[in-house]
Amino acid sequence: MDERKTLRIVLATAEVVKGKAMHRAKEPTSGATLFKEPAAGSACHGSYEIFLADTFEWLANRRHDSLHAVVTDPPYGLIEYKPEQLEKRKNGNGGVWRIPPSFDGCRRSPLPRFTVLTESDRQKLRTFFGNLAKLLVKVLVPGGHVFVATNPLVSYLVYEPFISAGFEKRGEIIRVVHTLRGGDRPKNAHHKFQHVSVMPRSCWEPWGLFRKPLEGRVQDNLRKWKTGGLRRISDTEPFKDLIFSSPARGRERQIAPHPTLKPQQFLRQIVRAALPLGEGVILDPFMGSGSTIAAASACGLESIGLEINPEFFEMAKRAIPRLIALVPNGAPDGSK
Ligand SMILES: C[S@@+](CC[C@H](N)C(=O)[O-])C[C@H]1O[C@@H](n2cnc3c(N)ncnc32)[C@H](O)[C@@H]1O
Repeated sequence: MDERKTLRIVLATAEVVKGKAMHRAKEPTSGATLFKEPAAGSACHGSYEIFLADTFEWLANRRHDSLHAVVTDPPYGLIEYKPEQLEKRKNGNGGVWRIPPSFDGCRRSPLPRFTVLTESDRQKLRTFFGNLAKLLVKVLVPGGHVFVATNPLVSYLVYEPFISAGFEKRGEIIRVVHTLRGGDRPKNAHHKFQHVSVMPRSCWEPWGLFRKPLEGRVQDNLRKWKTGGLRRISDTEPFKDLIFSSPARGRERQIAPHPTLKPQQFLRQIVRAALPLGEGVILDPFMGSGSTIAAASACGLESIGLEINPEFFEMAKRAIPRLIALVPNGAPDGSK
């Protein structure tokens, strides 16, 4: 048996496993106050399992109708997480990772370059997302939602394969995030064309929202499968498709130095919405540092994470418990 498949980490907080009396974090009344409640020591954390595995192999062996939601940030260039590209990134040496131009003396973190995709790369991405969607539609229960991070340059290569695989498109979540992608003047001619930007500076990140078709009405599906809708923020406030979110930085980055780390403040809102009754299992098939898994656990939800790269898998093992304990919004533990 492949050694990777035997490496199965099962982690659950003692409270959940032993069923001790637990204090659940107070229900948030709005997105803004969602993360002020201290988590460490007082919250009921959800259990999780993480696997060092190839998602496609793992999903092919997973029981049908056995997962309730997917929240994920997949690789896009397809090659950006290959060992040779990660090596080039480490050395600051070309490849698909590029350092955004410095205009204020600050050193920027490298970002994957998507504009260099050829037609053959695009076809590979369509095939990648087509294969992924076909596997996900089998393992999700009816009414299960998928939240998939993408970007404005490649989202069309994700959405069509998901719809062709049988998912319904249910909208897009717009994460308002000020990145340093785009907005640059023409390379080597920025003085001559100082009033020109080659592309807009990107200020948002789309997350495709899909649902496996329901069995019966929404209420039937909710009763039988615990899925079909999205959890409201409160009695008076539905989940919304516009979320303001800074990039992950500071303490979070120290804990989980993954090149494309997503912030807890954002992910906790998404995972919470993904399980309408707070019941079921969320899968992140490309977990990286385990940020989605930490967010789910911090919200008291059950989850499974998969990662192919042993280095990132080790990072996730270390980072998840520490990310769970973070209290965003400027709390004294320094999650900012
Ligand atoms: C965009 S990153 C996710 C980062 C994550 N959002 C975080 O906050 O840490 C995508 C991850 O998918 C992993 N990956 C790529 N192909 C995979 C595969 N076939 N199976 C499992 N993981 C894979 C990469 O190694 C990378 O860590």
